[in-house]
Amino acid sequence: MTHQTAHPATPSGTGLYGSIAVPGDKSISHRALILGALCVGETVVHGLLEGEDVLATAQALRAYGADIQRSESEAGGVWRINGLGVGGLLAPGDVLDLGNSGTGARLLLGLAASHGITSVFTGDASLRQRPMQRVITPLQQMGGQFEAAEGGRLPITVVGSNRLTPIDYRLPVASAQIKSAVLLAGLNAPGVTTVIEPRPCRDHTEHLLRHFGAQVTVDEDQDGGRRIALTGQPELRPQTVHVPGDPSSAAFPIAAALLVPGSDVTITGVGLNPLRAALLDTLRDMGAQITEQNRRQDQGEPIADLRVRHGQLHGIEVPLERAPAMIDEYPVLAALAAFAKGPTVMRGIAELRVKESDRIAAMAKGLSALGVAVEELQDGLIVQGHDGPAPAKAGVSIDTEMDHRIAMSFLIYGLGAQGPVRVAGCEMIETSFPGFAALMTGLGARIEPE
Ligand code: S3P
Repeated sequence: MTHQTAHPATPSGTGLYGSIAVPGDKSISHRALILGALCVGETVVHGLLEGEDVLATAQALRAYGADIQRSESEAGGVWRINGLGVGGLLAPGDVLDLGNSGTGARLLLGLAASHGITSVFTGDASLRQRPMQRVITPLQQMGGQFEAAEGGRLPITVVGSNRLTPIDYRLPVASAQIKSAVLLAGLNAPGVTTVIEPRPCRDHTEHLLRHFGAQVTVDEDQDGGRRIALTGQPELRPQTVHVPGDPSSAAFPIAAALLVPGSDVTITGVGLNPLRAALLDTLRDMGAQITEQNRRQDQGEPIADLRVRHGQLHGIEVPLERAPAMIDEYPVLAALAAFAKGPTVMRGIAELRVKESDRIAAMAKGLSALGVAVEELQDGLIVQGHDGPAPAKAGVSIDTEMDHRIAMSFLIYGLGAQGPVRVAGCEMIETSFPGFAALMTGLGARIEPE
């Protein structure tokens, strides 16, 4: 297990300074590979996230017969995918190991169900604890057969079918992974597959399906949700995809710049899909100075450069309806809240309990070990801010519980805290943000491996 220690900026320091780009968006990267594998001909992906989660999806798609290569001659993560067409996946010769990736596992379960082949899925100790019944239920309604470990968990054997029945499915939770698993299964079902989401959640699957030539319509539902309808069995056409910087990764340098006095950091090319960018609204409500520069649109996704300067924040009650659009950012927000003036109240986020770790429990445990007053709620957290540098009790080692975002949240915390913060299990950062420590060090942060 790798340990890293983040050290607070010295009082004489000038803060974090410079311009960086964060790695490509994880959600878009998984989807670009998957849709590329469903086209005959060559799809080219620029800026693919080369983190372990996405590489596990690439490996699984290779096992299904897709040809996926990194272009060594081109700078900046150019990947070429030669796929097999909708319904064209071949039986994999081995178990598919999705590592730590819930997105990879759930999206590919949808794909596996819609092919007349048998696939066996597994993952690491964290992924094997995560609920998969939420995708199994609709995929069984469509005609897929599943055998799962107790509690609907991995390992899972899927016996798929080329003759799935399209369904109308109302999501029980606002989850883009469930929505995407059903839509990907619907790609190889005759007729229209409809997903009704009670609250809008990230729509990269819909954008990319259209980009690759599928027919997808989105209508308002009577109760404020959305009906997403996909016409099955399209002929997808290979495309070029430009992956924007991941807003969920950008959240870490943004938080660091807000915490460390004197900081002035620009993060270029960040994807700002409105269903992903609610952390920025929340930080602005807390008093953060974040400006958008060079706003542009690329393949249906808004992108901008974000300039962030240090500033004292005040706690707020985060509006409940924002949760789906900042669901992965609550751990770093909880870390930041410890430096704000007054309490920050985060509710309506019970889904955080079934992420790579139980993120409500992990943040509450780590913050209170460091000396922060935290109240853990069944569906949220209340963090009492210190109106300045938050405490860092000596001798504490934060356990990241196999969760990359818990690891990065506490390292960022350490950059502004009263003393150094030691974090165990930092190898998990490679799942989503390869080069995290080096990028932060380049801005002037002190994060050291032990
Ligand atoms: C993701 C959806 C979200 C998010 C995850 C990525 C995706 O999960 O937390 O990191 O790419 O579809 P849920 O669908 O479980 O909300």
